[in-house]
Amino acid sequence: MVNWDSVRDDFPILSERRNGKPIVYFDNACLSLKPKLVIDAMNDYYLKYTACHGRSIHKFATETTEAYEKARQSIARLLNARANEIIYMRNTTEGINLVAQGLDWKAGDEVLTLDIEHNSNLLPWQRLARERGVVHKIVKTNSDGSFNMENFSDALSERTKLVSFVHTSNVFATTIPAADIAKKAHKAGALFMLDAAQSAPHFAIDVKNLDCDFLAFSGHKLYGPTGTGVLYGKADLLNNLNRLIVGGETVENSTYTTEEVAKPPAKFEAGLQNYAGAIGLGAAASYLMKLGMKNIEARDQQLIKRLMEAVKLDKLKVMSSLTPSDPVVSFNIEGMPAHEVAIMLDEVANIFVRSGRHCVHSWFNANGMHSSVRASLAFYNSESEIELFSETLKKIIELA
Ligand code: ALA
Repeated sequence: MVNWDSVRDDFPILSERRNGKPIVYFDNACLSLKPKLVIDAMNDYYLKYTACHGRSIHKFATETTEAYEKARQSIARLLNARANEIIYMRNTTEGINLVAQGLDWKAGDEVLTLDIEHNSNLLPWQRLARERGVVHKIVKTNSDGSFNMENFSDALSERTKLVSFVHTSNVFATTIPAADIAKKAHKAGALFMLDAAQSAPHFAIDVKNLDCDFLAFSGHKLYGPTGTGVLYGKADLLNNLNRLIVGGETVENSTYTTEEVAKPPAKFEAGLQNYAGAIGLGAAASYLMKLGMKNIEARDQQLIKRLMEAVKLDKLKVMSSLTPSDPVVSFNIEGMPAHEVAIMLDEVANIFVRSGRHCVHSWFNANGMHSSVRASLAFYNSESEIELFSETLKKIIELA
């Protein structure tokens, strides 16, 4: 059993105060806080052995190479992947762009996304449609953002080259039945990619069981550093995927006119990398495995129960799922713009949430909605914080 109260001690930032009061961090879907051991791992790289990976052969360089590759192994274990299937990226967005630009597309090939995608899993396909004649089809979800298998089956065809879906929605907190979707996509001859930015911090992800071909997530939501992320790809697909950026480390050899491309993952990691960040992300992956992703899933269920009770208030309209798969709720308060609610939560009680369209402008535009307030929790959030959130919302509603 994990003692979740003691886990808070792993996150020194949680003892920060503003205006003499504790802070309540409910913006974890945007970025999660970092345990001290992640910060220590990054500092160690800079303070004790800073060097280039895979190039020089002195002691610092060897230690850097070992730490960078050890971190890759930890991330691979978290996903049940092999280390050579893990490519370091700057974030989910970069991973999706790599796949978009790296596959060999022909005009008329189709790519499917959902109608609730973050811009990161929308704009790369709009660009392919504009520049290469790829057909981008959007699969509608149900009104609460839940997956609609019939709509997906209708959209899938022999021309579908890739199905690229958000695993857990950052607005609706719904999770798609990824393994079933993978089966259908593969039966139709398509590849399947998951945007796991919001799911990887909350669920035990097993890429082999899900049978996804590609999966991207961000370090900054996974208790790791900003500017880090991962693209997982099946080894044979990575061998054939074109590079997004070329340069140092992506080749075994070159002449003035030719190159001998390196094997993945080096093939995709051009130029000097964010070594401290990768090492920090590896530390975050090990930390999560130590807590146990199954324990985190159970903790989420406790928080979801409390959170959904806390927002059962007059004049508060929940727009996300009423049975979310992770502790995230999007809502509006009658008669009050979302930004104003967010400012009041901050002003009155130091409660930090996100308001706006959460980078899912397309869904808000299509549904004639302006914005929402989103509270997104992590395992270190407490029931007393949820209580304070509910009490503060009641005060705001009275003012509204
Ligand atoms: N994707 C992040 C969010 O939803 C930035 O807040």
